[in-house]
Formats: sequence, C-alpha cells, structure tokens
Amino acid sequence: MNHIETRIVGPGKVLRGEFVVPGDKSISHRSIMFASLAEGKSRISGLLRGEDCLSTLQAFQSLGIEVEDRAADELIIHGRGLDGLCEAGDVIDCGNSGTTMRLMSGILAGQPLFSVLTGDRYLRNRPMARVIEPLTSMGATIHGRSNHSKAPFAICGGGLQPIQYHSPIASAQVKSALLLAGMQIEGTTTVFEPHLSRDHSERMLRYFGADINSFKGGASVTGRVRLTGRDVVVPGDISSAAFFLVAGLIVPGSELLLQNVGVNPTRSGVIDILQQMGGSIKLLNEREVCGEPVADLLVKSSDLHGIAIGGEVIPRAIDEFPVISVAAAFADGETTINDAKELRVKETDRIAAICDCLGGLGAAIEPRADGMKIVGGRPLAGGQVKSFGDHRIAMSMAVAGLVAQESVEILDTSCTETSFPGFWDLLNMIQAG
Ligand code: S3P
Repeated sequence: MNHIETRIVGPGKVLRGEFVVPGDKSISHRSIMFASLAEGKSRISGLLRGEDCLSTLQAFQSLGIEVEDRAADELIIHGRGLDGLCEAGDVIDCGNSGTTMRLMSGILAGQPLFSVLTGDRYLRNRPMARVIEPLTSMGATIHGRSNHSKAPFAICGGGLQPIQYHSPIASAQVKSALLLAGMQIEGTTTVFEPHLSRDHSERMLRYFGADINSFKGGASVTGRVRLTGRDVVVPGDISSAAFFLVAGLIVPGSELLLQNVGVNPTRSGVIDILQQMGGSIKLLNEREVCGEPVADLLVKSSDLHGIAIGGEVIPRAIDEFPVISVAAAFADGETTINDAKELRVKETDRIAAICDCLGGLGAAIEPRADGMKIVGGRPLAGGQVKSFGDHRIAMSMAVAGLVAQESVEILDTSCTETSFPGFWDLLNMIQAG
C-alpha cells in the first residue's frame, strides 16, 4: 500500500518549552468568510495556513474576492458586501474541510448563483443533509448525491425565507450555515440546539456589525444588516494545543507554556476534562482579543485518573476526544465517553479509529455506539498505527508514542497539514527542551 509519509515517535524525553500553536481553524475560516461578505478591507493576522482554511480562501477567490497575501499568517481581504459575490466558474473544492462545505452552503444558499460543492473522498462521505434539509426548507434548491445527502451537490440560491429551526444535534456548522443564510434576508432566523456548540460565528458576526442575538438554547440573526470590514486577530487553536496539553501531562517531569491560546468556554471542554482527571493546567494572563477569550496555558506532568464524560461538555471538546483517549489510556482506572455519537461522522469514524489505534498498541479500550470505555494504566506497547487520513488521529498517536514502551510508527501523516502545519517540528523542538 502506498502511504503518504510515515512518522516514528519514540519515548524517553522530558518535554520543556514555551511556544505558540498555529491560529484557530474555526476562527480562521470564519474570518475569511465574514471579511469577504463585509464591505471594505479587513486585515486578518494569526491566520492558520492549514489546508482546510486554504480551501475556504480559494473558494472565496473563485467567487470574485480579492485577497492580498501579506506575511505567513496575515492576509488582507477586500470584502464586497452581502451582494458582491460572483458566480464561480468551476466546481468549488472544499478539500477535507467540513466547515468550508457546510458554512459555504449557508452563504451560497442566500446568493442568486449556481454553485457546486465537492471535496476529497473523506468529505464526500460525510453527512450533508443536516445543512441541505433546513436550507431547502428556507427555499434554496439543492441537488446532491445519495438523495441530496452527500457531496458533490449543486445549490441554486436566492429567494430564501427565514425559519425557526430546532437542530437535533449540537453542531456549530449547522447553526452557522443557517445564521449565514438568514443574515442575507429580511426577517429573523432562529436556530435552537440541544447543547451550546462553539459560538465563534455569533461572536465574529457581531464584531463585523451583524444583528445577532445569542440566548440559552440557541442564536438568531436579523438579516440584511451591512457588515463592515474589520481587523481580526486569530488566537492559537485550543484543538492544536490539546496535543501538547496531554503530552505535557503524561510525559513525567514535563512543563510546557503554551502562549496565546483561545479559551472560549464553548471550546475549552478539553481543559475542564483534563483538570477533572487530575491534570495541572493553569490559565495565565487571561484577556479578550476581538471578542474571543485568550490565555497562556501552563501544563505540568500529573498523575491522571479516569472519569465519566458525557452531556454538555461533549460539543465543547468534540475535536479533542482522540487525544483525550490517549490521556485516558494513561490514567488510573476507567474513563467512559458517552453522548458522543457525532465522533462517528468526523473526518473519519473516530470511535472506530481510536479503538483500532489504541487497542492495537495494547490499551484496554471498547467501542460503544456513542463513545467508548477505556481502562487506563496498562502500559502501551509500541507498534504501527494508521492515521485513517485524519489529522487528529495522526497527532494523537504521536502523543501516545511519547509514552509507549517502544516507538510508535504512524502511517499516512501528511494529513496533519489540514490543521497543524509544523506539528512534527514543534514536537521535536520540545523533546529537545
Ligand atoms: C466546527 C464545528 C465542529 C467541529 C469542527 C469545526 C466549526 O463540527 O467538529 O472541527 O468550525 O464550526 P460540527 O459542527 O459538525 O460539530
């Protein structure tokens, strides 16, 4: 089989260092999207140049948005307002990015344009009915593969009516898609969700001048309010920081300072969970940047114990369960993860992938329909694991390699470029102290 890049991570070194992680992926996507829909110039700094965000950038360039590429993490976007997008001359390729595809669906449903969205083989298999159905009930015409539930799909946008939508899942992508559609039309569109999902769209749309109302149980937008170009500073991604939080906790004698990390409470479930497991993580220098809470995180190696995880914390930590599972495999006693069925439809089926990888290294782990059970404390052997083409599985297995008895060889690691360019260099750097 032809694997793209293999990495070997071995045990044995104490981790030390102070560093920043790349910009937040969710916030970077939104900054490009909302700046494009605003009127005038927006300067975005701290932007994540991962493949996912580049898919969003290219999508807007294909819709006629002019972008000035400044420095490695800085862009200037010349927004054209709510009615300024042009029809793309070709299919829009969202790559591996669910956020690009689902949020773009909401934006394009409101535009009187014909658009076709597709993605890589993983994204083409992910469920899209969750946005296609409510956008269709708002009045968009969307035709797609598998009875309009999968990409590629085609959108004939425009002529929408506001709705009140009760989402069956706590999904920021669904919520954002509907708010973005509703933002373009007269009237108020409301989305209710079972638990609060990440609220970056609400915060940033408000920052750009939209009429957004957040309330317990959901959010609403009253449309046709002009957005104005603003400067956005993107904080470090807590989902990327999570790999180093867990590494710092489980490698004995380690101490790491992660600077400038976004700690929005709708994203910081991983900190709550790891602290509850006994982890020493301190938030220092807490501040607010462009409407988002930010802090420096000091992590020291700790003795962890198993806990029961479920309910409202699940959407607040949804992307971190691969690496939380690694922490659980090293913790004393049993950790259970429930209410996390959404893990089955991420970049890969993450419940199956985590069980395959950690089980293959010797962990006592069992899948459940909506989560898993891990009995920690048994040492992990080394060995070979697959990434399943999923960036977060690859990086979580690298963290496991730091504390396994022998090296862990991870197959197909080029996917880490999706969210964390420079991950392997940073890992080497902190291993060298
Ligand atoms: C994201 C929302 C989450 C998350 C994804 C990014 C976003 O997905 O898993 O990585 O930027 O809105 P869901 O909306 O499917 O929960």
